[in-house]
Amino acid sequence: MASSPSFTLLLLFLFATVAIGSSSREHKEKMTHLHFYFYDYYGGSNATTITVVSPPGNNTFGSIGVGENILRVGRESSSKLIGKAQELTVQASLESPAYLSALNFVFTAGKYNGSSFSILGRAVLTEPRMERGIVGGTGKFRMARGYTISRLIRSTGTTQMELVFEYDAYIYHY
Ligand SMILES: *[C@@H]1O[C@H](CO)[C@@H](O)[C@H](O)[C@H]1NC(C)=O
Ligand SMILES: *[C@@H]1O[C@H](CO)[C@@H](O)[C@H](O)[C@H]1NC(C)=O
Ligand SMILES: *[C@@H]1O[C@H](CO)[C@@H](O)[C@H](O)[C@H]1NC(C)=O
Repeated sequence: MASSPSFTLLLLFLFATVAIGSSSREHKEKMTHLHFYFYDYYGGSNATTITVVSPPGNNTFGSIGVGENILRVGRESSSKLIGKAQELTVQASLESPAYLSALNFVFTAGKYNGSSFSILGRAVLTEPRMERGIVGGTGKFRMARGYTISRLIRSTGTTQMELVFEYDAYIYHY
């Protein structure tokens, strides 16, 4: 029995609907909010951040730093390690220090183990609230965009310093 043209059209319509349905499910964007703490150590044998270029004179303009900072779940330095943040910073303001910063947040534990996201933006460490853009990611954060809000919550020491920042990351990804 030959199928009627309208039955064929109905089948085509159903296949098309299923195909669109499954592809839009795979590509649905979600938002993940991550909250964690960022530990940055200067000086001493446990330094995580070093200055690799010091400009001549007393100027900090043009100084370049490299860091591999520690990411933990809590505000105590004994809290669980969840990853590292590898960074490049350039003091790029002629007036008061403001850094051009690029960081890769690489997770090594939990649900996002093996995934990373990257930010690029302006950092003024003394500002009560720093906002920087998320420009990409890998693994679970592939195609990421979004922003981070961070603030300095603790600063101790002078020649050997510990700086602790609280981070909220709002990550849009697939
Ligand atoms: C440096 O790290 C070692 C090993 O993790 C630790 O035992 C020591 O207390 C740390 N020193 C400082 C000054 O934080
Ligand atoms: C750096 O600053 C100190 C104190 O303000 C001053 O005595 C010194 O001459 C300056 N050095 C240079 C290279 O400008
Ligand atoms: C994270 O993933 C790596 C690679 O798959 C694995 O070796 C490691 O044990 C994982 N770490 C945790 C804490 O799950």
